[in-house]
Amino acid sequence: MQKHLAVIGYPIAHSLSPIMHNAGYKAVHKEAIYHKFAVRPEELQEAVLGLKALGFRGWNVTIPHKETILPLCDELTEEAKLAGAVNTVKVQEGKLIGHNTDGVGFVQSLQKHMDLTPDKDIVLLGAGGAAKGIAMALAPLGVTIHVLNRTKGKAQQLVEQIQSIGGHALLHEWALGEWLKRGDCIIQTTSIGLKMEDYPYSLHGISPDTLVIDIIFNPWETPFLKEAKSLGCKTVNGIEMLLYQGAKAWEFWFDEEAPVSVMREALLNALQVEKG
Ligand SMILES: NC(=O)c1ccc[n+]([C@@H]2O[C@H](COP(=O)([O-])OP(=O)(O)OC[C@H]3O[C@@H](n4cnc5c(N)ncnc54)[C@H](OP(=O)(O)O)[C@@H]3O)[C@@H](O)[C@H]2O)c1
Repeated sequence: MQKHLAVIGYPIAHSLSPIMHNAGYKAVHKEAIYHKFAVRPEELQEAVLGLKALGFRGWNVTIPHKETILPLCDELTEEAKLAGAVNTVKVQEGKLIGHNTDGVGFVQSLQKHMDLTPDKDIVLLGAGGAAKGIAMALAPLGVTIHVLNRTKGKAQQLVEQIQSIGGHALLHEWALGEWLKRGDCIIQTTSIGLKMEDYPYSLHGISPDTLVIDIIFNPWETPFLKEAKSLGCKTVNGIEMLLYQGAKAWEFWFDEEAPVSVMREALLNALQVEKG
């Protein structure tokens, strides 16, 4: 029987999730369709009940519903509890199980580029929803997470959250500082760069051994990432994070591995990026 999956959010028109998942279904001959639905904040509960009544196997949840969907779930996985947000829902024996694959997906993609041993220093620029998901997935690995954010209170809160689960975190000022030279990896999680705007701080002086990540993928290369590349750093954009959160959602829904390379290809084609 045909299985139905979806992504719900508002706005949703530009979501690449249907392209990525449907390409995967086609490649492995899975009888499934992945839809996308624009759901306004005030319609969330009705939409969730509707998806359940229509027999959907599960769905992804994106902005602005990742937190407001929490009370609508019957159960939450550890990952969702830690992140305080849900990006994936599975309907299991009539119950809605809320899960979060953003952080674990990110960590899986990061592990392809570096060994996340406890001696590593990771700099997190930003303390919004994405940063929190990433931080809570990194914390159990024992790495030291350096947090800085424009609104210092949010950075402070994130540091405390990391520490509350036994992780190592340090608070820094939202300004140029020692973090530039201390990080084995710098992860840019703010929305600066979405409109190709320059980053407030220059990366001049960074070691070329630093892995620099920007979780934005459209534009493909933000000015922040461009500068890091020009200074000799290895750079990674946000497409891998999108890909692996999707692959982890697939695993959660179907209890099987996702065809990651087909899904990556579909994303790159949709973004019309040259494959290297
Ligand atoms: N690749 C992926 O799969 C993926 C997944 C999720 C998100 N993202 C991207 O990640 C970015 C953040 O998403 P989010 O969900 O975390 O959003 P969010 O919860 O709204 O957080 C936004 C973050 O950006 C900071 N920020 C925004 N404008 C700023 C400015 N002009 N100067 C300094 N800081 C600024 C905010 O700082 P304040 O706290 O001071 O406001 C906050 O830390 C977006 O660009 C989104 O597209 C990518």
